[in-house]
Amino acid sequence: MTVAQLKNISKIYGKGESETVALNNIDFKIEQGDFWAVIGPSGSGKSTLLNILGCMDVPTSGEYYLNGQLVNDFSNEQLSKARNEVISFVFQYFALLNEYTVYDNIMLPLNCRKMSMTEKKKRINYYMERLGIEKLSKKKPAQISGGQQQRVAIARAMVTCPDIILADEPTGALDRKTGEELMNLFQEINNEGKTIVLVTHDMKVAAKAQRQLIIEDGKSKIVE
Ligand SMILES: Nc1ncnc2c1ncn2[C@@H]1O[C@H](COP(=O)(O)OP(=O)(O)OP(=O)(O)O)[C@@H](O)[C@H]1O
Ligand SMILES: [Mg+2]
Repeated sequence: MTVAQLKNISKIYGKGESETVALNNIDFKIEQGDFWAVIGPSGSGKSTLLNILGCMDVPTSGEYYLNGQLVNDFSNEQLSKARNEVISFVFQYFALLNEYTVYDNIMLPLNCRKMSMTEKKKRINYYMERLGIEKLSKKKPAQISGGQQQRVAIARAMVTCPDIILADEPTGALDRKTGEELMNLFQEINNEGKTIVLVTHDMKVAAKAQRQLIIEDGKSKIVE
């Protein structure tokens, strides 16, 4: 089943002399259970692509289908719903709330859900255990390591049971060993059926994914 499909997507920033073509007629299809690495040099359009997939940005032209529905036509309400229920993001610098505990950070995307507190707690405990961070639940982000913070961010991304996890340089701020552990974790999560699209500069990191999409000057090429 196709989860997301980009058809002829272009993104142009600015006008006239300051115009930048960030994406140039991209076609990209993500099937359920796929694990894609998006690679390419700095400024090639990787984050722009991820932001469009995540409904955080809109293309200048082209069509984006999410679970068969045309995102171009989405209302603000549908966009928020897609961001909360269909897609989850993992960022390079974790993007955790420093004044919240690990537990409350993972709870965040569930706050607006019509779900019993018992069910929310059950889910959070399940993912904390799954990611090996259950002992850290009462700590604040500043009191745990970078690798542990990224595990919290991954738990937060998984707790909503999204259709796709989008990760922008998730190992970029970690040392090599911790980065490798994190990539093994992404592989496990993918083996359990999760669809993942992960942006990276690092070919070694990209090699852990099932397929690679190379972006250069806003144009894409698939390596399988
Ligand atoms: N908001 C913006 N306004 C204007 N230009 C932008 C904006 N965001 C990105 N760009 C430009 O679009 C191009 C693609 O940027 P993007 O952030 O997608 O690259 P990237 O591949 O993620 O790079 P990096 O590896 O450095 O993160 C770059 O030339 C960038 O300068
Ligand atoms: Mg980027």
